[in-house]
Amino acid sequence: MRGRFISFEGPEGCGKSTQAKLLIARLQAEGLTVTSAREPGGTRTGEIIRDILQHDLSKETIFPEAEVLLFAASRAQIVRQHIEPALQAGTWVVCDRFMDSTTAYQGYGRGFDVERVIDINAFAVGHTVPDVTFLLALDVDTSLARMESRNRERRQGQDRFEREGRDFHARIHAGYQAMARRWPARFRVIDGDRPAEAVAADIWAEVTLARHRTLADSEGTPQ
Ligand code: TYD
Repeated sequence: MRGRFISFEGPEGCGKSTQAKLLIARLQAEGLTVTSAREPGGTRTGEIIRDILQHDLSKETIFPEAEVLLFAASRAQIVRQHIEPALQAGTWVVCDRFMDSTTAYQGYGRGFDVERVIDINAFAVGHTVPDVTFLLALDVDTSLARMESRNRERRQGQDRFEREGRDFHARIHAGYQAMARRWPARFRVIDGDRPAEAVAADIWAEVTLARHRTLADSEGTPQ
């Protein structure tokens, strides 16, 4: 039986990395085989691309057209090397950001034609699309405040995306909401402005439903 593919999305500081970890632990506790992936990265090729995109490895300006294709290239690699083989082997895959981040950040955020970005994503991932995408929603100012305090705590500077102004981040927030309305069967919007345990409980309830659907599918029960 094919594994389930779950992605986490959201603005800076929305808590998706914490939630992805909590979900993986819980699925493993249920005896499921789970693998995780992060975007960009997750393969050696992807990690090099990540350093170019986030840590100025090439020491030159990355033009927006190159940026969108680098994200897509990293994703095309991890899909074929890691994600699709895992799903086929019955492993669950939990991804911290996936194709919707490119639509949100490069499409809505940078102002590229959103439909074009969606086409590029489709070329990169083929049929390997998440079964469920959790959008951890947070208002723009809470998101930016969390990002600043996280950077202070870790004594780290801002990356290329974090350095963008409030307008950029506001467009990303609006973009995510638009995507959730456009693909309601795949997206689950979860209020991220609550304690981590409350957010995790909502996510687990949704995953339990998805899991029962999987069992029903495999047993040939009518939907
Ligand atoms: P990451 O280290 O994953 O931080 P976080 O997800 O906690 O914010 O950083 C990924 C950064 O890259 C983040 O600012 C979003 C951006 N990004 C894009 O612009 N496009 C993409 O397709 C992806 C996957 C990420």
